[in-house]
This record gives sequence, C-alpha cells and structure tokens, in this order.
Amino acid sequence: MYSLLQQIVSKIDGKIALSFSYQAEDAAVLHLLSQCKIKSFEVFTLDTGKLFDECEKLHKETEEFFKISIKKYLPKSGEIEHLEKKLGDWGMRESLENRRLCCRIRKVEPLERALKGKSAWVTGLRVAHGITRNNLQIVEYDEKFNLFKINPIVFWSDEELFGYIKEYNLPLNPLYSQGFKSIGCKPCTRAVKDGEDIRAGRWWWENPEHKECGLHIKEK
Ligand code: ADX
Ligand code: SF4
Repeated sequence: MYSLLQQIVSKIDGKIALSFSYQAEDAAVLHLLSQCKIKSFEVFTLDTGKLFDECEKLHKETEEFFKISIKKYLPKSGEIEHLEKKLGDWGMRESLENRRLCCRIRKVEPLERALKGKSAWVTGLRVAHGITRNNLQIVEYDEKFNLFKINPIVFWSDEELFGYIKEYNLPLNPLYSQGFKSIGCKPCTRAVKDGEDIRAGRWWWENPEHKECGLHIKEK
C-alpha cells in the first residue's frame, strides 16, 4: 500500500490533511503517510466535546510516537450553547433530526474549516465498515469539499488492520480491549458483542442506512 500511496500523494499539488479520530484505522494511515516522501501534511482531529477520556491520552501518545502535532478543531461556542439548550445531554438520541443537528454543529462545520484550502484529505474509511461505505475507492474526487479524498486502507479487513497495528506497535485506543469496534462520541457509541458488525455500536438506535454523521456524505 505504501508505494501506491506514495504515487498518489506525489501527484497532489497543494496541502494534504489527515483526519485523526483516535481509531486504529487512523494510526495505520498516519503510519503509511509518514513514510511517504512529501514536504508536509497536517493531522487534525474534530474535538466534538463529547469524546471518550481515553482519546485525550491517546492524543498525546500519538503525538509522541509520530513526533507530530495534532491540531484540534472545535465547534463554535455560540452554536454549542444553543445546541445544549435544545438537546440537553441525550436529546441527540430522540430523533434523527436532533442527531444530525448535533453532528452538523460538532463535527461537520469544524470539518469544513479543517479542509479549507486543502487539496487532499486522507481518511481511515474502509468498505468493511458497513453498507453506507460499499462504494468507496482508494482515491475519489470530493465535490462537496473540492479536493481529492484518499482512503489508503479502504479495502483492508479487520485482520489486516490489527495485524498492521501489531507489526509496527502503533498506539491503540484502549477502548478496543473493552469491546468497542468503532469509536465515536461517548453518547453515541457503545461496545458490541462478538459477531456484531463493526459499526453496530455507533448510533445503535438508528437504522444501518442512517449511520453517517455527515463527514462522509457527498451531497452538498
Ligand atoms: S464517522 O463519520 O462515522 O464518524 P468513522 O468514525 O467511521 O466516521 O471514521 C472514519 C474516518 O472519518 C476516520 O478514519 C477519520 O478519517 C474521519 N473521522 C471520523 N471522526 C473524526 C473526528 N472526530 N476527527 C477527525 N476525523 C474523524
Ligand atoms: Fe453529537 Fe453524537 Fe454526532 Fe457526536 S456522534 S456529534 S454526540 S450526535
């Protein structure tokens, strides 16, 4: 994968950013990208204010391991105030509309800021994540953000991913050993049982076809 990624990024003219969400996928992708011969790239996280405490510790460990700085993008405080008044602590679970509003304010708007001026966006998306991600490719043009979206491990299985993490001893979120298979915000993520789908613990009260927060929805 490394040599293909090297070829892809060498054709990108402009700034490259990698979105880091404290999941195993991002550590693997960061490791792959770190080996590429490119001038620089930005690593950013969308700090929704609702992340698990384990993520803060992993933030520092990852920065030390890769000798990088991970930039945090936060939601706008005025919008958070309004959102908290409207939804309280758990209102995002009461309707799809509430949940999408929360994701829009806490994740999507900060993502728009993070991707401004970038030519390429590198993610840890995988087809194995489920039905909303069936048609992904290694390189796509994202018309919403007007940039190339690069998904280097899009076709990796769980075995390949966790094998890679082990091989290079990459920092891993401790939530995986507590039964989590996918890690998002605290109110909207839970551990899953053996045999359940990777994203069964994300927005578990919703239908599988709705399980996207808006970061990876292509419509404008
Ligand atoms: S999500 O859209 O449902 O939240 P998911 O958790 O599967 O996405 O992660 C897929 C990819 O989206 C990650 O590998 C990462 O590139 C990006 N991503 C998701 N959440 C965040 C976040 N909070 N900060 C930065 N990147 C994120
Ligand atoms: Fe809000 Fe949950 Fe979306 Fe996080 S995942 S932004 S808490 S609705």
